[in-house]
Amino acid sequence: MVSTNGSEKDIYRPEMATLVRSQAMTTMERFLEFKLDSGKELGHMPGQFAEVSILGIGEAPISISSSPTQNGSFQMVVRAAGSVTRAMHSLKQGDKVGIRGPFGTHFPVEEEMKGKDIVFVCGGLGLVPVRSAINYVLHHREDYGNVTILFGAKSPADRVFVDEVKEWTSKDNVTYLETVDRADEEWTGRVGVITTLMTDMTVDPRKTVAIVCGPPVMYKFAVMSLYKTGMIEKNIFVSLERHMKCGVGKCGHCQIEHLYVCQEGPVFRFSDVSEVQEAIS
Ligand SMILES: Cc1cc2nc3c(=O)[nH]c(=O)nc-3n(C[C@H](O)[C@H](O)[C@H](O)COP(=O)(O)OP(=O)(O)OC[C@H]3O[C@@H](n4cnc5c(N)ncnc54)[C@H](O)[C@@H]3O)c2cc1C
Ligand code: FES
Repeated sequence: MVSTNGSEKDIYRPEMATLVRSQAMTTMERFLEFKLDSGKELGHMPGQFAEVSILGIGEAPISISSSPTQNGSFQMVVRAAGSVTRAMHSLKQGDKVGIRGPFGTHFPVEEEMKGKDIVFVCGGLGLVPVRSAINYVLHHREDYGNVTILFGAKSPADRVFVDEVKEWTSKDNVTYLETVDRADEEWTGRVGVITTLMTDMTVDPRKTVAIVCGPPVMYKFAVMSLYKTGMIEKNIFVSLERHMKCGVGKCGHCQIEHLYVCQEGPVFRFSDVSEVQEAIS
């Protein structure tokens, strides 16, 4: 038995959960909402993941996209990549999955981020785990300073949480800037890589924490642009995704040099991984 977030759980035994909502988000991604059959809360912090199992098919690590401030259920966004995620796309309301977790480190919403201005830098599906932190911060709005959310997608059709952005920007001192790599005929917004958004951003580096999550190629350039604002690596946190199996530090599948991403991550302080080239390139 190991304690995750203070509660005693068997880390190898999945708990059953029931699908309560499934809807298409893009052509490749589905939004899925589950409730634990025990009636308990999942008990996660923003940035953590759970191992989701489908009977007879397998198990995959999936980020928890809802904030723990949302009670009674938890949400995920799943891209159909292989056997488990394709099976998750086919689930119908009332179908069961197994859940192990929550596992891994979290964005320091209660520790380093409180009282600070926050910059979220999200590429593509990087917005999925970060959404948990965004909603946590906005739920406790008075505890945080200015919030800037930068989002980059491959194309307008690849954008996720398009409707929820309106809720975010309805709050005081929340700025949302987005860009796409390739426009379509209807797109009137910005075109270009995510770092182009940073030129319009005003940051007080002494009181800002940045969260970066996206495809591997993005980290180096996003962090370099944050340095240009005067930010230092100690105040930058990154969430890294690596192939995982056990999710609990036993199998070595997620290992990069001395790091076990499933346990020491997926959220790292950038200064702890900036020397580990494979982690950030
Ligand atoms: C901490 C963490 C959080 C994740 N969160 C999400 C999420 O919120 N939503 C989501 O859709 N997916 C997420 N993933 C990725 C997901 O776990 C993988 O795509 C998983 O392999 C899917 O299982 P599968 O059986 O469907 O596909 P598989 O049959 O395992 O793999 C399908 C393809 O994806 C490749 N692949 C597998 N894992 C990775 C990886 N980590 N990085 C790059 N390529 C990989 C395989 O090589 C193969 O080509 C996350 C992964 C990690 C480690
Ligand atoms: S996934 Fe098994 S050690 Fe990290």
